[in-house]
Amino acid sequence: MNNSVETQNRDQWSSKVGFILAAAGSAVGLGNLWKFPYTAGMNGGGAFVIVYFAILLLVGFTLMLAELVIGRSTQLNAVGAYRKINKSWGWVGGLGVLAGFVILSYYSVVGGWVINYIVKAATGAFNTTDMDVLGNMFGGLISSTWTPIVYHGIFMAITLAIVIGGISGGIEKFSKILMPALFIMIILIVFRSVTLPGAAEGVKFFLQPDFSKINGKVILAALGQVFFSLSLGMGCMVTYGSYLSKNENIPQSATLIPLLDTGVALLAGLAILPAVFALGFDPTGGPGLVFITLPAVFAKMPLGALFAIIFFLLVLFAAVTSSISLLEVVVAYVVDDWGWKRSKATTIVAAAIFLVGIPASLSMGPWSHITLFRGLGVFDALGFLTDQILLPLGGLMLCIFIGWVWGVDNAVKEATNNGKVKFAIAPIWGFIIKYIAPIAIGYIFISGLIG
Ligand code: PHE
Repeated sequence: MNNSVETQNRDQWSSKVGFILAAAGSAVGLGNLWKFPYTAGMNGGGAFVIVYFAILLLVGFTLMLAELVIGRSTQLNAVGAYRKINKSWGWVGGLGVLAGFVILSYYSVVGGWVINYIVKAATGAFNTTDMDVLGNMFGGLISSTWTPIVYHGIFMAITLAIVIGGISGGIEKFSKILMPALFIMIILIVFRSVTLPGAAEGVKFFLQPDFSKINGKVILAALGQVFFSLSLGMGCMVTYGSYLSKNENIPQSATLIPLLDTGVALLAGLAILPAVFALGFDPTGGPGLVFITLPAVFAKMPLGALFAIIFFLLVLFAAVTSSISLLEVVVAYVVDDWGWKRSKATTIVAAAIFLVGIPASLSMGPWSHITLFRGLGVFDALGFLTDQILLPLGGLMLCIFIGWVWGVDNAVKEATNNGKVKFAIAPIWGFIIKYIAPIAIGYIFISGLIG
């Protein structure tokens, strides 16, 4: 059971800005910089962006507030938080901890690729616009045995080094440095990208919605993207909310964090797609957009070598502020529930996640013949398990839990600090979390399983 000593000595965010930057740091990650631009590119550009916005407004803000409220109210990790409110609901938090563990195992593999690409950029390896050469460079990296594992290890070591410092002295401290640096770098890149001759076509593709392109597939892609990008459905914001003080303004935070996350996703689209258009590449390039198409883009633009380094550094910063939140979900559980010291918990959990990431990395190379289910290799199977099953299921259970178990009134009381903080749209929020959100999420969940 949770031990009260740990709860009493619980670390807290030392400032409001620190909390917002850490939570926005969790949300802003590979989901924004890598997944959002290529998913938009593959799903009709502006059409996807519009649907993304609609779902963000309806589901994103709602669940962000819900998770923060549960965390702040209970001051416990994801499992303890659900269990404290209702004994038989701890397993929902448990699914979240599992999701955090699994996501980080493959997220860190991609984080390792990013570090490798910083080295490549710094040593001038992108000196070509030949897509075959660049494709082979990326394919060669991810399919080799040792290199990606070593870089995955470096990425996990960075994550471990920050989380071991705790909330205010680790996660918050680094987020306060990395996030502003990230904002400056992305604005630099956007400026470079949209001022290239011919960039306007890309801006148009990205921002001008063609409503005829909206279909079931686009809606589904957008719904999944909202979850992943906002770090929702796995107790991450429950955990971060548990380190909030009782007088923090939750409705305001729950508005700001998604706004910052969406701002960066839009900037990422504006950084990448106009350059892709301006230099005559294909925007529907998929997951390789950042690792194959972009290096070609950099090779073609003035001062490209410098911008390449800045770009991949920025992606690394974003990935690290997300990976620390994933590790923290598991560590908080182990510290609260098993009574382990933070240093021991962080080290052992990080090592275990590193080990699980190894087969994920190998599945892109020597183990590519091994499939787990649905013909998916380890890397893709772990992604499917989390994005299509654990996150939607966690989000669905969260809505049911608040709407029908804990009760909207209790949640609103906590969100408003007992009526002291303004939350004008509380009735609308309650209606969405009770009815609309569970139906919308149930839809992605079921279609994800049968689709
Ligand atoms: N939101 C992060 C991103 O966009 C990923 C993430 C998902 C982080 C779930 C924490 C929890 O990259």
